[in-house]
Amino acid sequence: MPREIRLNAFDMACIGHIQQGMWTHPRDRSVEYASLDYWMDLARTLERGLFDGLFLADVVGVYDVLGGRPDAAIRNAVQIPLLDPLLLVPAMAAVTRHLGFGVTCNLTYEAPPLFARRMATLDHLTRGRIGWNIVTGYLDSAARAMGLPKQMAHDDRYAAAEAFMDRVYALWEGSWADDAVLRDRAAGLYADPARVRDVAGGGPFLVEPSPQRTPVLYQAGASDRGRAFAARHAECVFVNYGRPADIARLTADLRARAAPRPIRIFAGATLIVGRTRAEAEDLLAEYRRHASVEGALAHAAASLGIDFDRFGMDEPIEVAATDAISSNVEAMRRVFGPGWTKRQLVDQFVLGSRQRPIVGSAAEVAEALIGFAEAADVDGFNLARTVMPEGIEAVVDLLVPALQERGAYKRGHGEGTYRERLFGAGPRLAAPHPAAAHRR
Ligand SMILES: Cc1cc2nc3c(=O)[nH]c(=O)nc-3n(C[C@H](O)[C@H](O)[C@H](O)COP(=O)(O)O)c2cc1C
Repeated sequence: MPREIRLNAFDMACIGHIQQGMWTHPRDRSVEYASLDYWMDLARTLERGLFDGLFLADVVGVYDVLGGRPDAAIRNAVQIPLLDPLLLVPAMAAVTRHLGFGVTCNLTYEAPPLFARRMATLDHLTRGRIGWNIVTGYLDSAARAMGLPKQMAHDDRYAAAEAFMDRVYALWEGSWADDAVLRDRAAGLYADPARVRDVAGGGPFLVEPSPQRTPVLYQAGASDRGRAFAARHAECVFVNYGRPADIARLTADLRARAAPRPIRIFAGATLIVGRTRAEAEDLLAEYRRHASVEGALAHAAASLGIDFDRFGMDEPIEVAATDAISSNVEAMRRVFGPGWTKRQLVDQFVLGSRQRPIVGSAAEVAEALIGFAEAADVDGFNLARTVMPEGIEAVVDLLVPALQERGAYKRGHGEGTYRERLFGAGPRLAAPHPAAAHRR
């Protein structure tokens, strides 16, 4: 029997997320991103496809590394305009019962009590279906937007994140005892003050215990420091798609570092699924005509921290360590060798990013994912969008049945909170996770 594959949709409250330019396709609906109907339709589709979750990325600055200006990003709608992802969740939760929501929030510019309250509110409103992708950002533009000269250095960001986690665990797990809430109408006693304690001298947490308390924790750092952080805090880890052998080394290292805690690992992937191979290839050809090289370059420049306008097409790109996503820079070196060029990068762009699509009939894509999951030891995939909504509908209507026929996909929703469905254990984090140490 193949292993069970889990699916997340990887999206963002914007027009151009990963595959840049797709919005120019006449059937694409992503320009409706600012309407609730768009997100509620997506949530219903994912629930029908028995997806574990909708994962929403986020940044809080603009992509202005290419040419030192945001023009290319603005022209191509590359993660700008961009809405606040947390605010989309209640509407989607209202039209679903099972779908989880993994929302990215950059902790660097957040006050722990306010952030902890927003997440706990969503955990209540979704009945325990909220997750948080812990990020510290990779954009100097975000720091400048907050009135700072530049972002903190890569490893310092992780150190700050450790301190932040300690604060929010204390709020979520440590302030209210399980039996603090009495709701005793006859006695006029809502909660027992002896069972609600101050956190770090700041008074009690404002939110009464939610189903999961701490949201399901996601993280995507792949550098050495990032892995150490993931091993300590993350329950789910995102890794970029790549050669299975490279991913297998990363997943083995992450699992060994996190042990005995189990972690769920999702690989990013872009799929083009057709009824037949020919249909999928036709779709690829059609989508490709809409891919934006300029948009992809603006995105890559910001996430790698390299201004590609400074390099000719065939000039070797030699850069010192950047403060952006260092694991992405390492991946470029690994794949192309030192002295890789802009031409090699641009040649990678098929649909509008470095993530090359897996293209085929439902059966072929199912086999490819099953083989990849086994070889790379991942639990599932984080599917970047192509043309919306037809790209995700093809996954739900064609690929999911093909995976089910092969015994590699669930046939019904699990029960309970997001955490319970991901791990088959309780709704709350348990020891040895550091959050559990804050529990009363
Ligand atoms: C699949 C994936 C998704 C990510 N999504 C976001 C995001 O939405 N927002 C963000 O600020 N960073 C995001 N990141 C960046 C990571 O959170 C992290 O900051 C980055 O990988 C740098 O850490 P590293 O050098 O340890 O890999 C993502 C990274 C990966 C690999």
